[in-house]
Amino acid sequence: MTLDRRQFVQLAAALGASFAWSGGARASSLRWRERRDLYPEGVASGDPAYDSVILWTRRPFPSGDSATLQVEVAEDEGFRRVVATAPALVSAASDWTCRVLVAGLRPARVYWYRFTDSGGNGSRIGRTITAPADRDPRPVKFAFVSCQNINEGFQHAYRRMIFEDERAPRAEQLGFVLHLGDFIYEVVQYPEEIATRYDRTIVEIVRLAESIKVGNFHLPVTLEGYRSIYRAYLRDPDIQDARARWPFVAIWDNHEFSWQGWQSMLKGGSAERPAQSLKVASNQAWFEYQPARISKPSGPGLDRFDPPAVTDAPLTDLDENGLSHEPNNLAAINSLTVYRALRYGAHLDLMITDQYSYKMLHPFNLPEAEGLGSPPRPLASFYPEEVGQILDAGRTYDGGNPPDTITVGETVTPNYRKDKAPYTILGARQKSWFLDQLRQSRATWKVWGNSLGVLENRADPQNLPDGLTERWPGAGYSNAAVDYSGAYTERGEIYDLVRDAGITGFAIVSGDRHSFWAGYAAKSLPPKAFEPVGVTFITGSISSPGQVEALENTLARDHVLRPLFMADRPGAERPQAAVNMLMRHGVRSCLEYARSGDLEAARALSNPALAPHLEFVDMGGHGYSTVRLSSGEIATEFVCIPRPAAREPRHDGGPLRYRVVHSAPLWRAGERPRLERRVIEGDPGLSI
Ligand SMILES: [Fe+2]
Repeated sequence: MTLDRRQFVQLAAALGASFAWSGGARASSLRWRERRDLYPEGVASGDPAYDSVILWTRRPFPSGDSATLQVEVAEDEGFRRVVATAPALVSAASDWTCRVLVAGLRPARVYWYRFTDSGGNGSRIGRTITAPADRDPRPVKFAFVSCQNINEGFQHAYRRMIFEDERAPRAEQLGFVLHLGDFIYEVVQYPEEIATRYDRTIVEIVRLAESIKVGNFHLPVTLEGYRSIYRAYLRDPDIQDARARWPFVAIWDNHEFSWQGWQSMLKGGSAERPAQSLKVASNQAWFEYQPARISKPSGPGLDRFDPPAVTDAPLTDLDENGLSHEPNNLAAINSLTVYRALRYGAHLDLMITDQYSYKMLHPFNLPEAEGLGSPPRPLASFYPEEVGQILDAGRTYDGGNPPDTITVGETVTPNYRKDKAPYTILGARQKSWFLDQLRQSRATWKVWGNSLGVLENRADPQNLPDGLTERWPGAGYSNAAVDYSGAYTERGEIYDLVRDAGITGFAIVSGDRHSFWAGYAAKSLPPKAFEPVGVTFITGSISSPGQVEALENTLARDHVLRPLFMADRPGAERPQAAVNMLMRHGVRSCLEYARSGDLEAARALSNPALAPHLEFVDMGGHGYSTVRLSSGEIATEFVCIPRPAAREPRHDGGPLRYRVVHSAPLWRAGERPRLERRVIEGDPGLSI
């Protein structure tokens, strides 16, 4: 579809955006001279469509309430073929940020853009790319990333991504970067209070004028607090260069609002309180700093957020999905809706969801869960699989026959979830939107981008030899996460729809776990049926510490269960990540590997029923991932860098640990997908 000028002006007006019309190209007439110091957070673009994209910058002025910049969009980096210009309003009300929807562009094109103030002071030049037209069959490629922490790490994974992309042929370059959250960490540390954490030196990034202090973390309590954290992150040269090179498509994870928060509840360690005003503040800061096609109650205008007035009130009046209908909660969580879908050529429908605004408080976090007891350390983060399944399913457990009690070892607790609806992360309204999108998708690949991992994170502590440690209190397997790993019913509902509607090409990409995972989307695992309906990938963090780093620094050398997590090889600088083997092969393989150091002997003891859903796990990997989609194949590449504990001086972003590709041919409805792995370079260690 192409719009004529009148239709376009109407559409642009309906979207409430500044608009640009791409008529004939002509040379720039502005006297632009680059002044990066006046645009300290750089430039960005977001949510590309085949004919339009949102452009962003921040230009603070020392006085006044607002100013108007000009944005120019050109077909060349020298701005000799400018195809669009538009005014861009920056105002103190939006922390001097602006968002301009530029439409009337041509599909699958690289464009260059820059902002100029009335004095001719210009931003750096940004590069952006429109989506291919809906029926364009060319292969598409994008990167997905998550979890960048400038307070305790460095972001040169982006430098490697830029280096490789600049050298790739145009057809193999990235079209956009999908950022799956933890773009910022709202938990700020100060170097004089804590010098190091794990292998990291704490870096000075920002001082919050007001904060709640929990341990060594300072949590923002104002809009200005969140804004100041975004500004600090965008002054990181690697993050800023990445935003200037590609359009980003962003969704938040937890840390854009609150570490352990949910709906409008702030929770971080011992700090826990209703925080509608802060949920609105974090939404406003996200709106201001992430150019995206969002919706908000004040209308479609992109100039200002116009926050609703809310007061902090307890989250009362929960419906059966755990959604609080307390009016301030609803006003706060509905002040910004970010779940959305993007079409990108013939092969990609991308659906991205919000995992925090509508979620039910996990049943493990209710006071009633106290009675369930906890497994022996360091298995304390594991819980018996059947307990998680009973709590998750509520009244729907076992076809509507939930037990009256839950038994863990010797402990018997009333089943406090017996009459309750199943656990939900998406919430009813968002889930219904998502399932509709899935049903309606006609692209070859239907990709669900969500911030949380979906692959079950289980182990087989029931196979530990007697007498090694306290007896495992469960009936069988353990599960270790309250993300989608433990959201059995909701995952099952989505996967059942995929199966029943005969949907092929279903793939899921996620972040959050600070680790690389590849595998299959399956509702259940042995001893239940294992029937995968899609493929799924989780990307390692850009920089945040992962579980392996935490274990290296905290797990005692002489702990009897150390072999399940760390393999100490004679002469090795660091232990190997046995926890990867634990997830893929089970406790017997780990114990054998610790005993003999013989990888083949260890893998011969693999428990085949443990993890048929997993092809790859690296709980110690950092870096980024790319997805390439064509008419016949999905291929996901993990690009893993060494632990980014120091700034990498090399222009190419430094060395790689490994590069691994998992690909699957497109399967037919009713067929199961099959992944094939290729290690392109480096050594993924015990991940396989
Ligand atoms: Fe994270």
